[in-house]
Amino acid sequence: MSQSAEEFLKAFHDNNPGLQSVSVEASRTAKGRTSYEEFADRVDAPGRVLDLGCADGALLEVLAGRGARTLAGVDLSAEELELARRRPALVNADLRRGRAQELPFENAAFDAVVSHMALMLMTDVEQVVAEVARVLVPGGVFAVALGGGAVEGEGMALFLELARPHFEAAREAGRRMPRMGDRKIRTREGLDAVLTPAGFAPVSWDSIVLDQSGTPEKVWETNVSVFYDVEVLDEDQIVELRREFLDKARSLVSDGRLPCGMRINIATTRRRAFTVTGEM
Ligand SMILES: C[S@@+](CC[C@H](N)C(=O)[O-])C[C@H]1O[C@@H](n2cnc3c(N)ncnc32)[C@H](O)[C@@H]1O
Repeated sequence: MSQSAEEFLKAFHDNNPGLQSVSVEASRTAKGRTSYEEFADRVDAPGRVLDLGCADGALLEVLAGRGARTLAGVDLSAEELELARRRPALVNADLRRGRAQELPFENAAFDAVVSHMALMLMTDVEQVVAEVARVLVPGGVFAVALGGGAVEGEGMALFLELARPHFEAAREAGRRMPRMGDRKIRTREGLDAVLTPAGFAPVSWDSIVLDQSGTPEKVWETNVSVFYDVEVLDEDQIVELRREFLDKARSLVSDGRLPCGMRINIATTRRRAFTVTGEM
């Protein structure tokens, strides 16, 4: 039987705990800020906050620094949560291994639910959103950060263009990635189409660009570590892709640096006081 998306994600994060937060910390906006900081700015006065797909707790730690009183997180990976428990700011946090589709929390337990680069990977997103509506107080904030793609003409775009035929060859050889998440929520309209029937207001939506520029070698390392799909490539394909990447990158390098940027879209909304069922 082929591996499900959740089995893949659990195994990947159990084998590579902390990888995501290291990569986020290394990527900054033009003002030198991480996407955790930019994201936290949009979740004002978080009070009681739940992070869906919290991994090693890096975002919860930032929210703790912004005065969140009660912190909770849920993730598929026990190894990620183990790292989260080691953060001094999270000693009292309620960190649970579980699925966002079946949240192990009471109704109306949170003032804010957040999810940074995780909702977009989740299957049955309507069920996740129904669970978010259930655990939020009326008027509570729901904020999500979603991958917005590579900046054209730069290192990440080059990596993806060159990697595509290798991913295709891997698929033909029977090494397939399980289908992850639901692409429709990557656009503002698609996200609203899922959120509105569940009792949320239309989202506010903005984008940030994270700079991952550096030497071509560094940009290669960043890209090869951030894309889950690289798991399906065999060693020969990785050697070949690296050679192609470093070769083609030469024309984009200036002063020894290869420009590399990626967009993150940040959407925020509130649970309406009146839901479609008429509840106050
Ligand atoms: C790309 S990582 C992002 C981690 C973290 N939010 C961050 O940005 O540092 C995605 C995380 O979502 C978790 N995840 C994916 N699907 C999930 C689900 N259905 N329920 C709970 N966690 C999930 C994965 O285990 C992984 O830790």
